[in-house]
Amino acid sequence: MRTLLLGAFGILSSNALQFYTSPQSLPRTAYDFVVIGGGAGGSTVAARLSQRPNVTVLLVEAGGSPEGILATEIPYLGVALQGSALDWNYTTTNQTGLLGRSMAYERGKVLGGSTILNLMTWNRGSDDTWDDIARKSTADDWAWPAIDPFYRQTSHLVPPADGRDVTGKEIPEAHGTGPVQVSVPGFPTEIDDKVLNASLTLGSPFEFNPDLNDGRTVGTGLLQSSIGGGERSSAYSAYLRPALNAQRPNLYVLVNTQATKLIQTGSNSVTPVFRAALLSQGPNSTTYRVNATKEIILSAGVIGTPALLQLSGIGGGNFLRSLQIEPLVELSDVGRGMQDHPLVPMYFHVNSNQTFDHVFGNVSVLAALEAQWNASHTGILTNSPGNTQGFMRIPANSSIFEKFGDPSSGTNAAHLELIFVYSFAPLGAIPPQMGSFLSVLAIVVSPLSRGSVHLKTTNPFDSPLINPNYLGHDFDAAAVIVAMRNAFKLVASSDFDGLIGDPLENFITANSSDDDLLTYARNVSGTVNHGCCTCSMSPNNAIWGVVNPDLRLKKVDGVRVVDASVFHKIPECHIQALVYTLAEKAVDFIDKQYFPA
Ligand SMILES: *[C@@H]1O[C@H](CO)[C@@H](O)[C@H](O)[C@H]1NC(C)=O
Ligand SMILES: *[C@@H]1O[C@H](CO)[C@@H](O)[C@H](O)[C@H]1NC(C)=O
Ligand SMILES: *[C@@H]1O[C@H](CO)[C@@H](O)[C@H](O)[C@H]1NC(C)=O
Ligand SMILES: *[C@@H]1O[C@H](CO)[C@@H](O)[C@H](O)[C@H]1NC(C)=O
Ligand SMILES: *[C@@H]1O[C@H](CO)[C@@H](O)[C@H](O)[C@H]1NC(C)=O
Ligand SMILES: *[C@@H]1O[C@H](CO)[C@@H](O)[C@H](O)[C@H]1NC(C)=O
Ligand SMILES: *[C@@H]1O[C@H](CO)[C@@H](O)[C@H](O)[C@H]1NC(C)=O
Ligand SMILES: *[C@@H]1O[C@H](CO)[C@@H](O)[C@H](O)[C@H]1NC(C)=O
Ligand SMILES: *[C@@H]1O[C@H](CO)[C@@H](O)[C@H](O)[C@H]1NC(C)=O
Ligand SMILES: *[C@@H]1O[C@H](CO)[C@@H](O)[C@H](O)[C@H]1NC(C)=O
Ligand SMILES: *[C@@H]1O[C@H](CO)[C@@H](O)[C@H](O)[C@H]1NC(C)=O
Ligand SMILES: *[C@@H]1O[C@H](CO)[C@@H](O)[C@H](O)[C@H]1NC(C)=O
Repeated sequence: MRTLLLGAFGILSSNALQFYTSPQSLPRTAYDFVVIGGGAGGSTVAARLSQRPNVTVLLVEAGGSPEGILATEIPYLGVALQGSALDWNYTTTNQTGLLGRSMAYERGKVLGGSTILNLMTWNRGSDDTWDDIARKSTADDWAWPAIDPFYRQTSHLVPPADGRDVTGKEIPEAHGTGPVQVSVPGFPTEIDDKVLNASLTLGSPFEFNPDLNDGRTVGTGLLQSSIGGGERSSAYSAYLRPALNAQRPNLYVLVNTQATKLIQTGSNSVTPVFRAALLSQGPNSTTYRVNATKEIILSAGVIGTPALLQLSGIGGGNFLRSLQIEPLVELSDVGRGMQDHPLVPMYFHVNSNQTFDHVFGNVSVLAALEAQWNASHTGILTNSPGNTQGFMRIPANSSIFEKFGDPSSGTNAAHLELIFVYSFAPLGAIPPQMGSFLSVLAIVVSPLSRGSVHLKTTNPFDSPLINPNYLGHDFDAAAVIVAMRNAFKLVASSDFDGLIGDPLENFITANSSDDDLLTYARNVSGTVNHGCCTCSMSPNNAIWGVVNPDLRLKKVDGVRVVDASVFHKIPECHIQALVYTLAEKAVDFIDKQYFPA
């Protein structure tokens, strides 16, 4: 039974799971930990902390439960959730690097957060990416050898949905034993082996990599996803649902409720203490106060976390005063420095009728595939849209580095990424055409552009101003051209002979000038939805940054930030696995502080 039943007293139950649907229905007003936001960070922390029977945990989520929503379970259909009731429906500001365009900015408003809506790519980050966090925060806790066990607590590798032998195309020893299920594509397509063969044929910068989660996130390999048994594995299904199923009496999950403000509850000598939050269900609803006897865990995400801090008087004083918010704590970097990955779709005609264009253009074919998924969790719907990915470094002798230095964390981390989608990926501004297509998504994974997230109004239910500043820095503009030229180089490999058809009419080609490639990129670039860095981690006592290396808010007692906003720089890969890992490490910091062995 998957239907949602609205029970008495504002308690929503489904499969015997209990959610509180209004703050008034909560049985208490104080908890040891109040976790704000039920995404990868908040779900992980709430599930782990509530394993201690004597610790009370309240998890507050603005959206509802994903139970019973088929598109949150069938991997390929996740794309249909963009712009749905599970999406915050944010929009970026006009982007100067994108010819003044703005774009929809998808974020999950649901238990599980963006792990319910994302395209599920699972990269744990190169060893260098973690070591760089340690260097920048001067805390060895974050160096890869120290982080490895926490990564292994997040996830485990499972066979692909079709059970085929993938020996040599993944490295089981590189994976852990945690709840998120990870697998290579459950339904191979004819393009997969051609891409892998081309990486062997051409070598550098495409080199074959048998497992991109083995420390070196450079090279081309099968794309691993948070999918198990043909079904999406999310922060909800992997962490929260089992905790709810265990019916822990100390875990309280409140849905459809937003935190609107953190409340200063006192001062320890000179340090202000924030151990309470106001909750509300809408702009005209009454607010309700909850206390945290130990900590507020702020996991509202790259947009929600800086916005809530600013609403609470924590941020840059001049900015707060401009909105008539009383500044309580001066932390001017709150909301500053946002980074994200720009994504440029490139299209190629292919001489084949095996592409997914023929599936998603035909309602009866799609219905048959859904019926197959329902019956056996097999078929192409077990895939994410991409089956292979390649990460590339820009050659060390490139003149790009003379001007800008090397922004990557080290030689095991990439500058560029290509993802191969065997259909016309309807991204950017170009309308789909009839025919069969290969889409190559060209991405800059080590951008230098930085933007910001700042409140637009003092109404917590208004969207803040979101400026990822895509392609705003000259390095990113130069790098995206290299990424696009790499895509042309790869598909020119003899491995694709006979498959790649005539170029699209009036389209960029391998012969286009750098200027034309860049104009195309600025005109059609979308995003990989990896927003981060709006509440950066920095060394204890640093004058920059927002949180200390143990993720506690600077200059404040009682608040810890656990989400992607704390990265000082965007990781050079897809970021969900790093956020789960960060959250597992946050639980370790909390344990050491409150529950020393
Ligand atoms: C919450 O904290 C406030 C201020 O410290 C206090 O007055 C109130 O009694 C607390 N409520 C609970 C339920 O602990
Ligand atoms: C997002 O927009 C869609 C389409 O307008 C709407 O159906 C959906 O409810 C919106 N989501 C939220 C969380 O408001
Ligand atoms: C953003 O661009 C749109 C469309 O070009 C324009 O109407 C709007 O005024 C711009 N907004 C700002 C704040 O510049
Ligand atoms: C990939 O290369 C192997 C070894 O050369 C070959 O057997 C296989 O047919 C190639 N696969 C494709 C799809 O071209
Ligand atoms: C809140 O109240 C204002 C003023 O009464 C009204 O204009 C607005 O539509 C209400 N908003 C919601 C979400 O009910
Ligand atoms: C697909 O192409 C093959 C050969 O290229 C052809 O034999 C087959 O009939 C085509 N299938 C469809 C459904 O068009
Ligand atoms: C959809 O697919 C079915 C079954 O393969 C086929 O009979 C039908 O003609 C297709 N419809 C369209 C519009 O292509
Ligand atoms: C698949 O199952 C869901 C219920 O879980 C149902 O709503 C849907 O109609 C089914 N789809 C097909 C094509 O049978
Ligand atoms: C960089 O080095 C490669 C081989 O090591 C060489 O082919 C290429 O010409 C060099 N490029 C520049 C810009 O020096
Ligand atoms: C941008 O793309 C649109 C099609 O989506 C096209 O009409 C327009 O000419 C392009 N602009 C530039 C500057 O290339
Ligand atoms: C690029 O130019 C070369 C040499 O002029 C030509 O052989 C090739 O067909 C062109 N490629 C494209 C995609 O136009
Ligand atoms: C819970 O019990 C542990 C020992 O099992 C103790 O260290 C801890 O302080 C207790 N926590 C609370 C909140 O009472």
